[in-house]
Amino acid sequence: MIIKPAKKIRGTIQVPSDKSITHRIFILSSLSKGISSAKNLLYSEDTFRTYEIMKKLGISYEGDFNNIKIIPPKKFNKNGNYYSGNSGTTARLIMGLLSSIKDGEYIVTGDKSLSKRPMKRIVEPLKIMNADIEFLENENYLPIKIIGNTLNSIEYELPVQSAQVKSAIIIAGVNSKKEVTIKNDNNTRDHTERLLKYMNADIQGDSSFIKVNPSILSPLKKIFVPGDFSSASYFITLASLHKNAKIKIENVGLNEKRIAFLNLLKEMNVNIHIEIKETFPEPYGDIYVESSELKVSEIDINSIPSMIDELPLIALLGCYTKGETILKNAEELRLKESDRIKAVVENFRALNVEINEFKDGFSLKGKQKILGGEVDSFNDHRIAMMFSIAGLLSKDGIKIKNSECVSISYPNFFNELKMFY
Ligand code: S3P
Repeated sequence: MIIKPAKKIRGTIQVPSDKSITHRIFILSSLSKGISSAKNLLYSEDTFRTYEIMKKLGISYEGDFNNIKIIPPKKFNKNGNYYSGNSGTTARLIMGLLSSIKDGEYIVTGDKSLSKRPMKRIVEPLKIMNADIEFLENENYLPIKIIGNTLNSIEYELPVQSAQVKSAIIIAGVNSKKEVTIKNDNNTRDHTERLLKYMNADIQGDSSFIKVNPSILSPLKKIFVPGDFSSASYFITLASLHKNAKIKIENVGLNEKRIAFLNLLKEMNVNIHIEIKETFPEPYGDIYVESSELKVSEIDINSIPSMIDELPLIALLGCYTKGETILKNAEELRLKESDRIKAVVENFRALNVEINEFKDGFSLKGKQKILGGEVDSFNDHRIAMMFSIAGLLSKDGIKIKNSECVSISYPNFFNELKMFY
């Protein structure tokens, strides 16, 4: 895909619905006895994997992703091969569920990228709960075999800041009707907890712990999934950096644990304005953003989990911002759909931007103009989208190899960009 420079960035944009919330709606609605209904779910490759897996487990659906009824199974199917594709959220959350389906016998697999991503972080706490899980080929990686078991309650201190780990444990606990306490959750996304609260689960907690007690869950009723802040962040970055930009992005999820990137941009002096429309179960609203003169701001280590998927964009902001931009303590980026530190550094170097690579981040000096060139997506949707934005900002345009991976979270992304020409 070749992305040419854009002269003017104007318009109203609706980004696709939230990926994390969509996965969770499919999984959590299977844990209630009643029929759930939801509007505006994300239809993309990743969420389709969860949709399919839950169907194979016995869920049935009426309607489509825009307006769906989800009918939970009387009993989960007790066997099968569950392919998660590229989706880490699917594989990891589903492992929590499968481990707790007594006497089930399941295989979980993924594509090439997912089969290189660590799974011990999920397997270890689930094993503490008495899960029976085996790595079939290589220790720490898919494929894995799970024999469903009666699980025990757990009090677990997160060794890595991961909402996927937290959610897998919570789902295992809820389905087993066992108490789950999570500690050291430092600002990872809380969609699982919010949805469970909306389903009347008994959840307690403060900033130091979350406790989910055995609960009877009500079905989700007409829950509306807002736009995905992570998808919006590409357009927010574009409008902030472009010299002639003024856009509105409608109905974007504004969950506090997702918008650290927005807060960072405010500190960097971006012309941005938010109008909140709803607060529960998930806050959302409209974002107005226009061309800005940015200044460098320090990145607080505690904010990193709440902008984990937006971190690569900090390098793009850094290119155009006076002063030195430094990102550290972000080694988790190496374990995403691609090694995102390597992908960012190699691609910027291919575009003649000077950037330093650290084991846990990068640094770069500002006021470097991107002229153009060729980059690779490393088959990672977020890298493809970030360098597309760089293309719109560049002088001569950027060619992105392997760009079709945007369909993981944003199937219509390249069509959307046509509005800027
Ligand atoms: C996600 C959590 C994050 C994020 C991923 C989606 C989720 O991963 O990077 O894109 O839906 O729970 P970790 O929680 O493993 O950091």
